[in-house]
Amino acid sequence: MSCSLSSSSIFSDFSAARPPTALVTGAAGFIGSHLTEALLADGWRVRALDNLSGGRRANLAAAHALAREPDQQPKQGRRAPGRLTFKFGDVLDAPLTSSLIAGCQAVFHLAGMASAPQSQLEPERCLDINGRGTLNVMRAAAEAGVRRLVYASSSAVYGDLPTPHVEGQPLRPNTPYAAVKLLGEHLALFFQEQSGLTTVSLRFFNVYGPRQSPDGPDAGVVPIFAKAFDEDQAPTIFGDGRQTRDFIHVRDVVKAAVLAAQTPDPGDGIFNVATGHGTTVLEVADLMRRLRPGRPAPIFAPARAGDPLRSEGDPAKAAAILGFRAVVPLAQGLAELLGEPSRREA
Ligand code: NAD
Ligand code: UD1
Repeated sequence: MSCSLSSSSIFSDFSAARPPTALVTGAAGFIGSHLTEALLADGWRVRALDNLSGGRRANLAAAHALAREPDQQPKQGRRAPGRLTFKFGDVLDAPLTSSLIAGCQAVFHLAGMASAPQSQLEPERCLDINGRGTLNVMRAAAEAGVRRLVYASSSAVYGDLPTPHVEGQPLRPNTPYAAVKLLGEHLALFFQEQSGLTTVSLRFFNVYGPRQSPDGPDAGVVPIFAKAFDEDQAPTIFGDGRQTRDFIHVRDVVKAAVLAAQTPDPGDGIFNVATGHGTTVLEVADLMRRLRPGRPAPIFAPARAGDPLRSEGDPAKAAAILGFRAVVPLAQGLAELLGEPSRREA
């Protein structure tokens, strides 16, 4: 059977016949849609919440198909409900969030603004959605008797500190986005002390993979460059391109989130989700140009304010406590995305 419901999981009292229920906020987004699929494949019922400000309903098409599969046969003349329900709504709507969380055993909180530069332009909006929205979700989870809450924190909390970034080191968040992500970690610890809820904050490093949007304020460097090459345009590198990022494939990130939900004792509940390897933006552009020969060389523009120069996470703690190791090499992940552009939507 599945990994989440196995005997080493805190959900081992559930089974495929009596599945546990999870709320995924931000489920129509890049990471949330992959996570929703992984949970369904593991036997969960999933409630998906998203206000579609950045995500798309189409991102959940594969999840809906997966959710219907086991329930195809009519039960007593009626079609059984699928294991996935989508709710269009906002994490700022506290009554809605509470009603969706009631009856859930786990909550995965991913909804929010995902861009540090955007948070500098709209700090109030960042504080509202990523701060108050997170408070709503965590408070409701604590009040509803949820067992485990997994929170999408970010490596941004380290700011520009020397690498590799280790969970226990003093932090220096240097954008509103980073500061509010750190606030979310502290709120998680607060609600954990107040209730039976256990929380895990995952500091995702730079996630890439299918369905990551190349457009809008939350777009990431990999899909932006991929789109530029599709259109035979030169990508723009901000700064000299020597800044490093720890690029991690979304398949690996989803695995980490599932492990974070099921691990009986997650210790202090704060983990890097990283490969441990830094790659420069110049190297990413080179790797991608090798996959799409003949595309224009990058052009350069001034560095973004607050853009960390180095980012590499120490993956040892997640390996030791969650049993998590990233396995998708960057070259393979990029080859999958660029080799077949249709797979970017997969
Ligand atoms: P994304 O923009 O694809 O997903 C975020 C989703 O949240 C979107 O579908 C959006 O519509 C939804 N949303 C936004 N505000 C909402 C609100 N008020 N109510 C309900 N839904 C709302 O981004 P992603 O890359 O999938 O990121 C998911 C989470 O992981 C975010 O919290 C982000 O900060 C965090 N994270 C991402 C990365 C990365 O590299 N992508 C790294 C570190 C942390
Ligand atoms: C990313 C995530 C953020 C997460 C953080 C964790 C996105 C959009 N943001 O932020 O949610 O918390 O990782 O580490 O995924 N760049 C260019 N040209 C471009 C776009 C970007 O040179 O066209 C550069 C940026 O200046 C930066 C690097 O590429 O140095 C990565 O940028 P980006 O993909 O936006 O991610 P982060 O800002 O690191």
